[in-house]
Amino acid sequence: MKRTILTAFVLAYCLASCQTQKEAPEQTQAQTQNQTPQQAQQQPTSADPEMTRFIDELMSKMTLDEKIGQLNLLAVGFDVTGPVVSQNVDENIRKGNVGGVFNTYTPVAARKLQEFAVNNTRLKIPLIFGYDVIHGHRTIFPIPLGLSTSWDMAAVESSARIAAEEASADGLNWVYSPMVDIARDPRWGRIAEGAGEDPYLGSEVAKAMVHGYQGQDLAASNTVMACVKHFALYGAGEAGRDYNSVDMSLNRMFNEYLPPYKAAIDAGVGSVMSSFNDINGVPATANKWLMTDLLRGKWGFDGFVVTDYTAINELMAHGLGDEATVGALALKAGIDMDMVGEVFLKHLPQLIQEGKVTEEDVNKACRRILEAKYKLGLFEDPYRYTDENRAKATLMKPEYRQAARQIAAKGMVLLKNEKQTLPLKKSGTIALIGPLAKNQRDMIGNWSGAGDWKQAVSLEQGIRNVAGNNVKIVYAKGANFTDDQQMIARLNAHGGELDIDKRSATAMIDEAVKAAQKADVIVAAVGESQGMTGEAASRSDIGLPGQQLALLKALKKTGKPLVIVLMNGRPLTLTWEDQNASAMLETWFAGTEAGNAIADVLFGNYNPSGKLTTTFPQVVGQIPLFYNHKSTGRPFAGDPLDKYKSRYMDVSNDPLYPFGYGLSYTSFSYAAPQLSKTAINPSETLQVSVVVRNTGNYDGEEVVQLYVQDVVGSITRPVKELKGFQKIALKKGETKTITFNISPDDLKFYNNDLEYVLEPGDFKVFVGTNSRDVKEAAFKVVE
Ligand code: NOJ
Repeated sequence: MKRTILTAFVLAYCLASCQTQKEAPEQTQAQTQNQTPQQAQQQPTSADPEMTRFIDELMSKMTLDEKIGQLNLLAVGFDVTGPVVSQNVDENIRKGNVGGVFNTYTPVAARKLQEFAVNNTRLKIPLIFGYDVIHGHRTIFPIPLGLSTSWDMAAVESSARIAAEEASADGLNWVYSPMVDIARDPRWGRIAEGAGEDPYLGSEVAKAMVHGYQGQDLAASNTVMACVKHFALYGAGEAGRDYNSVDMSLNRMFNEYLPPYKAAIDAGVGSVMSSFNDINGVPATANKWLMTDLLRGKWGFDGFVVTDYTAINELMAHGLGDEATVGALALKAGIDMDMVGEVFLKHLPQLIQEGKVTEEDVNKACRRILEAKYKLGLFEDPYRYTDENRAKATLMKPEYRQAARQIAAKGMVLLKNEKQTLPLKKSGTIALIGPLAKNQRDMIGNWSGAGDWKQAVSLEQGIRNVAGNNVKIVYAKGANFTDDQQMIARLNAHGGELDIDKRSATAMIDEAVKAAQKADVIVAAVGESQGMTGEAASRSDIGLPGQQLALLKALKKTGKPLVIVLMNGRPLTLTWEDQNASAMLETWFAGTEAGNAIADVLFGNYNPSGKLTTTFPQVVGQIPLFYNHKSTGRPFAGDPLDKYKSRYMDVSNDPLYPFGYGLSYTSFSYAAPQLSKTAINPSETLQVSVVVRNTGNYDGEEVVQLYVQDVVGSITRPVKELKGFQKIALKKGETKTITFNISPDDLKFYNNDLEYVLEPGDFKVFVGTNSRDVKEAAFKVVE
């Protein structure tokens, strides 16, 4: 691949400099500006007269080619996510052909490129610098799915705040996050990158992330512009296969899939990324209804839209026409910036001459991109995000690692704990077994940006740190993730760095069994390799891969207590594991501090409080399985001989673990919910109170969940929908009364004419510890 000198310099510098900073971070200065992200956003909007005047003046000086150049986003760096890396970067910058770059970071590399752009172009327009900062930048937090399971919005927001502190100190000002795609199909590898299956929780997470990244002032040197993605419905691809088609009713789209994107827009997100998939026959990247009528028209979004990687070019494979045709379609649809594909750059001049797009179309897109740069303060100071001293003082500060440890622990979900196997004693012998027991590479998960896995804490190290010398560890790997050579090659081709033990599966299992026989308890760290989740990592079988189940079965036969520690990026099918484990803890890929955080939970320094945000099916054939489904005309009521019901012959309709599920070392009791009224009018707010008591032996936290059912509607309505949650701390023996407000908005939905309505009638309200185990009450809305 041909690269020019400047690009080569940036690459070389990034590699060298990133390494140094990772190995020897200096933590000397406190960062400069403290944001209070909860405060209302005060970014300039398109209506800001000062910004409009500035951009009018700038655009009056720009040639058509320079305007088209702003629409072009190049990949310049050492990490690519698609088939193309931009070429001739310096030549293109010099010609004014580049609006922004991504994958370049470190203050020195970014400054070098920015200087080049500013000093070598006629109008000295600065570049915007983007990157996939998904769950942390240098300090890596749990994968987004494992953040969402904390149900702790302050924690989620603070992870994004820290990511923004680090990214902005590292030359970046634009992050491709949050990903808010609702996902109900765990075969899809990217379920790891979102907040799960629920629109209400997903919306709360979307808001928290946007606030965390953008803070109160986008022009501050420690905030970055967020980019909500993938607009839209990327998580609903048929059969869980990545990039696949989406065909969805408008009623489902508006009620179940669109709310988190809308929440990000309402929270002031600065940019939106188009998705790869088609929607009811029109790919998102060419979808005018989506990008213009809905996003800008109805939702009032005034930021800019960037495509996903080469998504305009891919419109050709979708069957929409040749390159010029799809370029015109994308611009006309409302796309502003072309990621890597260079279709706009190549074809817009000719398309304008032919009258297929207008200069006004280009002006609109160019203005939005310039506005983003203005909001980021780049015209005032193009080097705002390239302060080396700030980078040295900021990246991977001890307090960031500490926050990562706490947040990771909050997202872990205790799936089973028979006879109080957990917490473990800080004494005796532990047989620590499994491909993830000593592993560092996989701890930081997929899409771990500029994170360095060598800085990650393994489970073994975490146990030593937390339990100290009184615990003896006997280790055996027990199994590889997979012995399938093709899978290994594929994972390694994309940074998997799989450490494959060449011994036979039997030899490895035998060794593990021998280790287990010497121990008081087995801790089996099993799951997926990080590359088995994320982009282009769909799986048709979502059980533990390779010989890991065989390993667990052999370990079980030793009769020793079996604690399964799961690390994975999607719901797995775990029926045998559920029946046979003494305890099971879902830890996801927990980030830089994974090992410490897991050990904190295993040894009871932290009492687990995470709750699932995705349903875990019993078997893959139940997928899609989600809690907020509709009823059918023939719901199954439990009689096994009742044939003509909506059910399977070979498995029940129940999940293995329902949405919202997660145990604690203590226990909680719930009284019946009390309502402030049993009938309200359509503009009234209802109060629902519930008394929750900690009935166990530990202090603990509980996520109190509130669901609503609209019993009768003009269209079929879900059996229940999450409409509130509160994460509370209760001391051993303590009782608290928790109150929720159900507002008229919580009872509204989009009807088949896409009107957002509250239909008077009967409602049910459910309160409980998960979506299945609830207590209910009823009320009416009367006009
Ligand atoms: C493709 C992915 O779908 C998207 O999430 C990511 O932000 C871009 N590549 C850029 O890396």
